Amino acid sequence: MSDFEAVNNGAKIGHAPKPLWLLAEVTYRCPLHCAFCYNPTDYVTHTQNELTTEQWIKALREARKLGALQLGISGGEPLLRDDIEEIVAEAGRLGYYTNLITSGVGLTEKRIAEFKRGGLDHIQLSMHDITKEINNFITDTNTFELKKKVAAMIKEHDYPMVLNVVIHRYNIEHIGEILDMAEQIGADYVELANTQYYGWSLLNRAQLMPTKEQLLKAEAVTNKFRERVGNKMKVFFVVPDYYADRPKKCMNGWGEVFMIVTANGDVLPCHSARVLPGLTFPNVKDADLDWVWNESPAFMKYRGDDWMKEPCRTCPDKEKDLGGCRCQAFLLSGDAESADPVCSLSPNHHLIEKAIEDAKNPQLAAQPIVFRNDKNSRKLVDGESD
Ligand code: FES
Repeated sequence: MSDFEAVNNGAKIGHAPKPLWLLAEVTYRCPLHCAFCYNPTDYVTHTQNELTTEQWIKALREARKLGALQLGISGGEPLLRDDIEEIVAEAGRLGYYTNLITSGVGLTEKRIAEFKRGGLDHIQLSMHDITKEINNFITDTNTFELKKKVAAMIKEHDYPMVLNVVIHRYNIEHIGEILDMAEQIGADYVELANTQYYGWSLLNRAQLMPTKEQLLKAEAVTNKFRERVGNKMKVFFVVPDYYADRPKKCMNGWGEVFMIVTANGDVLPCHSARVLPGLTFPNVKDADLDWVWNESPAFMKYRGDDWMKEPCRTCPDKEKDLGGCRCQAFLLSGDAESADPVCSLSPNHHLIEKAIEDAKNPQLAAQPIVFRNDKNSRKLVDGESD
């Protein structure tokens, strides 16, 4: 198996793990305020002390030495930093396959030309709906027209057209039209990513979660579209956890293939890890990534299956799903070492069933949405520390 295949298939337990994927969350600042954002709700406490360009370059070099091949540059909105061109160029020199994950805000002709020169391989643009109303509502911005212009610019610069659309109750009925729009734009890949419930989307779960019927219909529409377009466009339909009866192998396993460096330099095995109690995450400002990956207590904590208790410990599927997501287990049940409640064998599975019922409750669904912004984040932090 090549390293690139290993990235896509996931490293197997028992092989020495390598951080094949490095995600650089270069800033938590963002001009959009998406209701479904997976960033931590307390992000405002992590926006100070962003890494400098030199510190990012040091992190890229250390991760490359450890075997990292794929680099995602995300945020927040990465283009709010004016050194992304330098970071991209260094990634190019180091031999990364680099993907810029962006809302499109801040992408200009000048910047995209510079990215091309620096060796940026891939740009993933988020789209939200075919209607201006839903796009602008769910992001709490006025970005509908801009996104279409940016999509055209990406195409003109000869990048593969890669769209990411987070799916929720407000746009799930438009999936057919969203796919038609993607075809018109000339998309090569479309990821229909059903909302997973972490961070801001967990706060807004009852307002965002579609019904099972909506989900099945959306999947059928997607399959029909796939049949029509054939290989012209690849469409990924990411099934939401809550409607599965077995959990996902989150991040392909804790500390198996993914390493995330956050805006202030904390190094995490997954996006939400800082919600877990009793863990201290190392920081690239004062720790070498080799030690972080191979020895730090935070990366060792849930690597493999030694930490498991029943029913995971003796489950025949334990290598397939590794007990699911530690963060989801903690966020829903308060116990990070329990089975992911998504699993129908989990003693906490009723929590998922209740969430699905709550999403059908018109009163809960009509509650105001909490948009991701500094003011709401501060309020949540103050509330949590009361
Ligand atoms: Fe943290 Fe799944 S998001 S283990």
